[in-house]
Amino acid sequence: MKLSVVDLNIYANTDKINEYVFKTFIRILLTRGDYVKLIIVDNYEFMSKKAAQILSSQIILKPNSVLGLATGSTPEGMYEILVKMYQEEGLDFSNITTFNLDEYYMINPNNKQSYNYFMHEKLFNSVNVLPENINMLNGMTNNIEHECKSYEEKISKCGGIDLQVLGVGKNGHIGFNEPDFKFEAITHLVELDEETIEANSRFFNNKEEVPTKALSMGMKTIMNSRKIILLANGEEKAEAIKQAVQGSIMPETPVSILQLHPDVTIIVDKEAAKLINEK
Ligand code: F6R
Repeated sequence: MKLSVVDLNIYANTDKINEYVFKTFIRILLTRGDYVKLIIVDNYEFMSKKAAQILSSQIILKPNSVLGLATGSTPEGMYEILVKMYQEEGLDFSNITTFNLDEYYMINPNNKQSYNYFMHEKLFNSVNVLPENINMLNGMTNNIEHECKSYEEKISKCGGIDLQVLGVGKNGHIGFNEPDFKFEAITHLVELDEETIEANSRFFNNKEEVPTKALSMGMKTIMNSRKIILLANGEEKAEAIKQAVQGSIMPETPVSILQLHPDVTIIVDKEAAKLINEK
Protein backbone atom coordinates (compact mmCIF):
# COMPACT_ATOMS: atom_id res chain seq x y z
CA MET A 1 0.00 0.00 0.00
CA LYS A 2 1.36 3.39 -0.96
CA LEU A 3 0.52 6.02 1.62
CA SER A 4 1.06 9.69 1.46
CA VAL A 5 3.00 10.66 4.55
CA VAL A 6 2.15 14.27 5.02
CA ASP A 7 -1.27 15.63 4.26
CA LEU A 8 -0.72 19.10 2.93
CA ASN A 9 -3.81 20.18 4.80
CA ILE A 10 -1.50 20.80 7.77
CA TYR A 11 -2.48 23.90 9.67
CA ALA A 12 -1.18 26.79 7.66
CA ASN A 13 -1.30 28.92 10.78
CA THR A 14 2.17 28.25 12.16
CA ASP A 15 1.60 29.82 15.55
CA LYS A 16 -0.68 26.85 16.25
CA ILE A 17 2.25 24.48 16.03
CA ASN A 18 5.45 25.00 17.88
CA GLU A 19 8.70 25.90 16.24
CA TYR A 20 10.11 22.43 16.68
CA VAL A 21 7.23 20.83 14.82
CA PHE A 22 7.35 23.41 12.10
CA LYS A 23 11.08 22.93 11.50
CA THR A 24 10.66 19.16 11.48
CA PHE A 25 7.79 19.50 9.03
CA ILE A 26 9.87 21.60 6.65
CA ARG A 27 12.77 19.15 6.91
CA ILE A 28 10.54 16.22 6.08
CA LEU A 29 8.78 18.03 3.27
CA LEU A 30 12.17 18.62 1.71
CA THR A 31 13.15 14.99 1.97
CA ARG A 32 9.72 13.54 1.49
CA GLY A 33 9.27 9.80 1.26
CA ASP A 34 7.26 7.03 2.81
CA TYR A 35 8.02 7.54 6.46
CA VAL A 36 5.10 5.78 8.04
CA LYS A 37 5.57 2.03 7.79
CA LEU A 38 2.25 0.30 8.22
CA ILE A 39 1.96 -3.34 9.21
CA ILE A 40 -1.58 -4.74 9.22
CA VAL A 41 -1.98 -8.10 10.95
CA ASP A 42 -4.93 -10.39 11.53
CA ASN A 43 -5.43 -9.94 15.24
CA TYR A 44 -4.14 -8.80 18.65
CA GLU A 45 -1.91 -11.86 19.03
CA PHE A 46 -0.01 -11.15 15.80
CA MET A 47 0.23 -7.45 16.66
CA SER A 48 1.79 -8.34 20.02
CA LYS A 49 4.16 -10.83 18.40
CA LYS A 50 5.40 -8.34 15.77
CA ALA A 51 5.92 -5.68 18.43
CA ALA A 52 7.83 -8.09 20.69
CA GLN A 53 9.99 -9.15 17.73
CA ILE A 54 10.87 -5.52 16.98
CA LEU A 55 11.73 -4.85 20.64
CA SER A 56 13.80 -8.00 20.93
CA SER A 57 15.72 -7.15 17.71
CA GLN A 58 16.43 -3.73 19.16
CA ILE A 59 17.71 -5.30 22.39
CA ILE A 60 19.84 -7.85 20.52
CA LEU A 61 21.32 -5.27 18.14
CA LYS A 62 21.92 -2.70 20.88
CA PRO A 63 22.02 -4.39 24.30
CA ASN A 64 22.24 -1.04 26.10
CA SER A 65 19.21 0.42 24.34
CA VAL A 66 17.08 3.07 25.96
CA LEU A 67 13.46 1.97 25.61
CA GLY A 68 10.40 4.20 25.95
CA LEU A 69 7.49 2.13 27.24
CA ALA A 70 3.71 2.42 27.34
CA THR A 71 1.04 0.96 29.61
CA GLY A 72 -2.62 0.11 28.97
CA SER A 73 -4.32 -2.91 27.42
CA THR A 74 -2.62 -2.59 24.05
CA PRO A 75 0.99 -3.55 24.98
CA GLU A 76 0.08 -6.23 27.54
CA GLY A 77 0.40 -9.07 25.03
CA MET A 78 3.75 -7.71 23.84
CA TYR A 79 5.10 -7.68 27.41
CA GLU A 80 3.91 -11.24 27.94
CA ILE A 81 5.85 -12.40 24.87
CA LEU A 82 8.95 -10.45 25.92
CA VAL A 83 8.87 -12.19 29.31
CA LYS A 84 8.71 -15.55 27.49
CA MET A 85 11.62 -14.49 25.26
CA TYR A 86 13.61 -13.71 28.41
CA GLN A 87 12.70 -17.01 30.09
CA GLU A 88 12.98 -19.32 27.10
CA GLU A 89 15.46 -17.64 24.77
CA GLY A 90 17.61 -15.63 27.16
CA LEU A 91 16.67 -12.20 25.82
CA ASP A 92 18.90 -10.05 27.99
CA PHE A 93 17.57 -6.87 29.60
CA SER A 94 20.54 -6.39 31.92
CA ASN A 95 21.91 -3.36 30.09
CA ILE A 96 18.58 -1.88 29.06
CA THR A 97 17.33 1.45 30.39
CA THR A 98 13.62 2.23 30.37
CA PHE A 99 11.53 5.39 30.54
CA ASN A 100 7.78 5.17 30.80
CA LEU A 101 5.56 7.59 28.95
CA ASP A 102 3.33 8.64 31.78
CA GLU A 103 1.92 8.19 35.26
CA TYR A 104 -1.28 9.31 36.94
CA TYR A 105 -0.84 12.36 39.14
CA MET A 106 -1.41 11.76 42.79
CA ILE A 107 -1.31 8.05 42.79
CA ASN A 108 0.94 5.99 45.01
CA PRO A 109 3.41 3.80 43.04
CA ASN A 110 2.21 0.81 45.10
CA ASN A 111 -1.41 1.41 44.12
CA LYS A 112 -2.49 -1.42 41.78
CA GLN A 113 -3.86 1.10 39.28
CA SER A 114 -0.59 3.02 39.03
CA TYR A 115 1.46 2.64 35.89
CA ASN A 116 4.44 1.92 38.11
CA TYR A 117 2.64 -1.14 39.48
CA PHE A 118 1.48 -2.17 35.99
CA MET A 119 5.01 -2.13 34.58
CA HIS A 120 6.44 -4.14 37.47
CA GLU A 121 3.63 -6.69 37.18
CA LYS A 122 3.73 -7.04 33.41
CA LEU A 123 7.46 -6.79 32.72
CA PHE A 124 10.02 -5.53 35.20
CA ASN A 125 9.49 -8.18 37.90
CA SER A 126 9.85 -10.98 35.37
CA VAL A 127 12.97 -9.97 33.41
CA ASN A 128 16.53 -9.03 34.37
CA VAL A 129 16.26 -5.26 33.92
CA LEU A 130 18.16 -3.53 36.72
CA PRO A 131 15.96 -1.51 39.11
CA GLU A 132 18.32 1.47 38.82
CA ASN A 133 17.77 1.50 35.05
CA ILE A 134 13.98 1.77 35.36
CA ASN A 135 12.67 5.32 35.11
CA MET A 136 9.07 6.21 35.89
CA LEU A 137 7.53 9.59 36.57
CA ASN A 138 6.71 10.06 40.24
CA GLY A 139 2.95 10.54 40.43
CA MET A 140 3.27 11.66 44.07
CA THR A 141 5.71 14.49 43.47
CA ASN A 142 5.11 17.76 45.26
CA ASN A 143 7.33 19.56 42.77
CA ILE A 144 5.88 18.96 39.33
CA GLU A 145 8.21 21.31 37.51
CA HIS A 146 11.29 19.68 39.00
CA GLU A 147 9.96 16.17 38.36
CA CYS A 148 9.28 16.91 34.68
CA LYS A 149 12.53 18.75 34.11
CA SER A 150 14.67 16.09 35.74
CA TYR A 151 12.90 13.36 33.72
CA GLU A 152 13.83 15.19 30.51
CA GLU A 153 17.39 15.62 31.76
CA LYS A 154 17.67 11.92 32.61
CA ILE A 155 16.51 10.98 29.11
CA SER A 156 19.13 13.29 27.58
CA LYS A 157 21.83 11.99 29.90
CA CYS A 158 21.09 8.44 28.75
CA GLY A 159 21.58 9.55 25.15
CA GLY A 160 17.89 9.81 24.23
CA ILE A 161 15.29 7.12 23.58
CA ASP A 162 16.26 4.54 20.96
CA LEU A 163 12.85 2.94 20.57
CA GLN A 164 9.57 4.32 21.88
CA VAL A 165 6.49 2.10 22.14
CA LEU A 166 3.15 3.89 21.88
CA GLY A 167 -0.50 3.00 22.20
CA VAL A 168 -3.16 5.46 21.16
CA GLY A 169 -6.33 6.73 22.81
CA LYS A 170 -9.66 6.66 20.97
CA ASN A 171 -9.39 10.45 20.85
CA GLY A 172 -5.91 10.25 19.28
CA HIS A 173 -3.87 10.94 22.41
CA ILE A 174 -0.33 9.56 22.63
CA GLY A 175 1.22 9.37 26.06
CA PHE A 176 -1.34 11.52 27.82
CA ASN A 177 -1.09 14.34 25.30
CA GLU A 178 -4.78 15.00 24.89
CA PRO A 179 -6.33 16.80 21.89
CA ASP A 180 -5.56 20.48 22.32
CA PHE A 181 -5.12 23.70 20.38
CA LYS A 182 -1.33 23.40 20.69
CA PHE A 183 1.22 20.63 20.89
CA GLU A 184 2.76 20.36 24.39
CA ALA A 185 6.51 20.18 23.95
CA ILE A 186 8.11 18.32 26.86
CA THR A 187 7.17 16.33 29.96
CA HIS A 188 4.34 18.13 31.71
CA LEU A 189 1.23 17.84 33.88
CA VAL A 190 -1.94 17.13 31.88
CA GLU A 191 -5.65 17.29 32.62
CA LEU A 192 -7.17 14.07 31.38
CA ASP A 193 -10.07 14.31 28.95
CA GLU A 194 -13.48 13.09 30.05
CA GLU A 195 -13.25 10.43 27.32
CA THR A 196 -9.91 9.17 28.65
CA ILE A 197 -11.22 9.06 32.24
CA GLU A 198 -14.24 7.13 30.99
CA ALA A 199 -12.06 4.70 28.97
CA ASN A 200 -9.64 4.12 31.84
CA SER A 201 -12.38 3.65 34.45
CA ARG A 202 -12.44 -0.02 33.41
CA PHE A 203 -9.27 -0.50 35.48
CA PHE A 204 -10.77 1.16 38.60
CA ASN A 205 -13.75 0.35 40.83
CA ASN A 206 -15.60 3.33 39.44
CA LYS A 207 -15.11 6.45 37.35
CA GLU A 208 -14.74 8.68 40.41
CA GLU A 209 -11.56 6.82 41.39
CA VAL A 210 -9.76 7.64 38.12
CA PRO A 211 -7.24 10.45 38.65
CA THR A 212 -8.11 13.51 36.60
CA LYS A 213 -4.48 14.49 36.01
CA ALA A 214 -1.29 12.80 34.90
CA LEU A 215 2.35 13.49 34.21
CA SER A 216 3.27 12.72 30.62
CA MET A 217 6.15 12.96 28.21
CA GLY A 218 5.35 15.73 25.76
CA MET A 219 5.16 15.56 21.99
CA LYS A 220 8.73 16.76 21.61
CA THR A 221 9.98 14.10 24.03
CA ILE A 222 8.19 11.44 21.99
CA MET A 223 9.25 12.88 18.62
CA ASN A 224 12.89 12.98 19.74
CA SER A 225 12.95 9.16 19.99
CA ARG A 226 15.02 7.59 17.24
CA LYS A 227 12.38 5.00 16.35
CA ILE A 228 8.73 4.74 17.27
CA ILE A 229 6.34 1.81 17.11
CA LEU A 230 2.65 2.51 17.54
CA LEU A 231 0.32 -0.37 18.34
CA ALA A 232 -3.45 -0.44 18.08
CA ASN A 233 -6.15 -3.05 17.91
CA GLY A 234 -9.90 -3.04 17.65
CA GLU A 235 -12.45 -1.00 15.79
CA GLU A 236 -12.57 1.69 18.48
CA LYS A 237 -9.04 2.77 17.48
CA ALA A 238 -9.82 2.91 13.72
CA GLU A 239 -10.43 6.67 13.57
CA ALA A 240 -7.24 7.43 15.53
CA ILE A 241 -5.24 5.17 13.21
CA LYS A 242 -6.66 6.85 10.13
CA GLN A 243 -5.52 10.17 11.63
CA ALA A 244 -2.08 8.72 12.36
CA VAL A 245 -1.62 7.53 8.81
CA GLN A 246 -3.38 10.05 6.65
CA GLY A 247 -5.08 12.71 8.77
CA SER A 248 -4.24 16.39 8.79
CA ILE A 249 -1.41 17.10 11.18
CA MET A 250 -2.84 19.12 14.01
CA PRO A 251 -2.78 19.20 17.81
CA GLU A 252 -6.48 18.30 17.96
CA THR A 253 -5.42 14.81 16.86
CA PRO A 254 -2.05 14.41 18.59
CA VAL A 255 -1.26 11.06 16.96
CA SER A 256 -1.21 12.75 13.52
CA ILE A 257 2.14 14.33 14.37
CA LEU A 258 3.80 10.94 13.95
CA GLN A 259 3.66 11.52 10.20
CA LEU A 260 6.49 13.99 10.75
CA HIS A 261 8.75 11.43 12.40
CA PRO A 262 11.36 9.84 10.14
CA ASP A 263 11.10 6.31 11.56
CA VAL A 264 7.63 5.24 12.64
CA THR A 265 6.18 1.75 12.35
CA ILE A 266 2.46 1.36 12.98
CA ILE A 267 1.31 -2.17 13.76
CA VAL A 268 -2.44 -2.65 13.77
CA ASP A 269 -4.98 -5.39 13.46
CA LYS A 270 -7.53 -5.40 10.62
CA GLU A 271 -10.19 -3.77 12.75
CA ALA A 272 -8.02 -0.80 13.68
CA ALA A 273 -6.95 -0.44 10.02
CA LYS A 274 -10.42 -0.45 8.55
CA LEU A 275 -10.78 3.30 7.93
CA ILE A 276 -7.45 3.72 6.13
CA ASN A 277 -8.02 4.54 2.48
CA GLU A 278 -5.84 2.99 -0.19
CA LYS A 279 -4.34 5.80 -2.29
C1 F6R B 1 -0.29 4.62 28.33
C2 F6R B 1 -0.49 5.70 27.37
C3 F6R B 1 -1.78 5.88 26.66
C4 F6R B 1 -2.37 4.57 26.13
C5 F6R B 1 -3.73 4.84 25.48
C6 F6R B 1 -4.38 3.55 24.99
O1 F6R B 1 1.01 4.66 28.87
O2 F6R B 1 0.40 6.46 27.18
O3 F6R B 1 -1.58 6.76 25.58
O4 F6R B 1 -1.49 4.00 25.23
O5 F6R B 1 -4.58 5.46 26.39
O6 F6R B 1 -4.71 2.76 26.08
P1 F6R B 1 -5.17 1.24 25.90
O7 F6R B 1 -4.00 0.50 25.37
O8 F6R B 1 -5.55 0.78 27.27
O9 F6R B 1 -6.30 1.27 24.92
